[in-house]
Amino acid sequence: MSPASQAGQPRPALTTTETTRHARIHGIGGYRPERVVTNEEICQRIDSSDEWIRQRSGIIERRLARPDESVIDMSEPAARDAIEMAGIRPEQIGLVLMATVTHPYQTPAAAPLLALRLGIPDPAALDISAACAGYCYGISMATDMVRAGTVDYALVVGVEKLSDFTDFTDRGTAFIFGDGAGAAVVGPAEEPGVGPTVWGSDGENWDKIVQRESWTDLRDTLADGSAGEDRWPAFSMQGQAVFRWAVYSMAPVARKAMAAAGVTAEDLDVFIPHQANMRITDAMVKELKLPADVAVARDIAETGNTSAASIPLAAARMLASGEARSGDLALQFGFGAGLVYAAQVVVLP
Ligand code: UT7
Repeated sequence: MSPASQAGQPRPALTTTETTRHARIHGIGGYRPERVVTNEEICQRIDSSDEWIRQRSGIIERRLARPDESVIDMSEPAARDAIEMAGIRPEQIGLVLMATVTHPYQTPAAAPLLALRLGIPDPAALDISAACAGYCYGISMATDMVRAGTVDYALVVGVEKLSDFTDFTDRGTAFIFGDGAGAAVVGPAEEPGVGPTVWGSDGENWDKIVQRESWTDLRDTLADGSAGEDRWPAFSMQGQAVFRWAVYSMAPVARKAMAAAGVTAEDLDVFIPHQANMRITDAMVKELKLPADVAVARDIAETGNTSAASIPLAAARMLASGEARSGDLALQFGFGAGLVYAAQVVVLP
């Protein structure tokens, strides 16, 4: 108890921020590394074929970053495009959320350095570790903070350099992953532009997509001299189990997100699921009974699975190509390692 309340004086009511405004996405941007890597190139190191990879995943090629290109390097152009589209100045951004699982420093986070590069003075800046759901987690958190008046504008980035954490001799993952960055600016709006997020986690399946050993285990193998390149803590995945989980458990989540936003499949213009596997996308389209005129993101064919970057990258491409338009109603939906998931209906900028 403070001396004032001990003395019987009333506690002052705290000043709080505005709580009545709405939020929307004001701008989206994407960055794809220059180097295109074909299935043939991937198959030089695994027993597979272009045909198998196309049939089982829908992937034709992916982009991989240069060795010296970091997640911050990739985020910068994506963020600049999103800020430009939003028509704001970097100084107006009060929060930088970077969704990534491939920033190669345990600490500090990548977000403060990105903010510095972008000339955003003194924002709250942190990374989100929610793998392929990270961007949708970020949009949810940014939306709540804008609505609560905590910040006016938030920059949400989804970025991965998965090539640093891929074992290119592992048949189960070598062909799946790609590198890239996508970004969005969330800010105040007259009308709701981001529906309620339906999100969650399933820790029972924590090991289904996992860094195959921890940094401390790696340290121990280094210490006893048994560490080799094969001990690098790349990501491993129980593909079939994740596939089944995505196909059977995630459609109800998408339906809940539509219901929470007060819309039906008939109201949607665009569907942007995490680009995990073209067959998962097809199964979801069927399961959700999406009308044929809903534009469906199929960016995985040229980009591979870029985890946190896949949704904003796909959205940026659809907006640039005219497949999606400003004002369109989009259902976006991330799911992956954790296992974690998040779905929300948004109005595209
Ligand atoms: O981003 C986070 C979320 N991630 C996902 O949602 C990924 C979900 N999982 C998947 O996308 C799929 O499980 C994969 C594309 C990774 C694999 O496809 P699949 O259809 O589940 O393959 P599978 O593991 O069931 O293997 C089927 C067959 C097996 O041969 P048999 O036993 O039928 O003779 C495998 O040995 O394909 C074989 N196989 C391969 N063949 C050629 C497995 N990997 C390969 C390969 N190339 N790379």
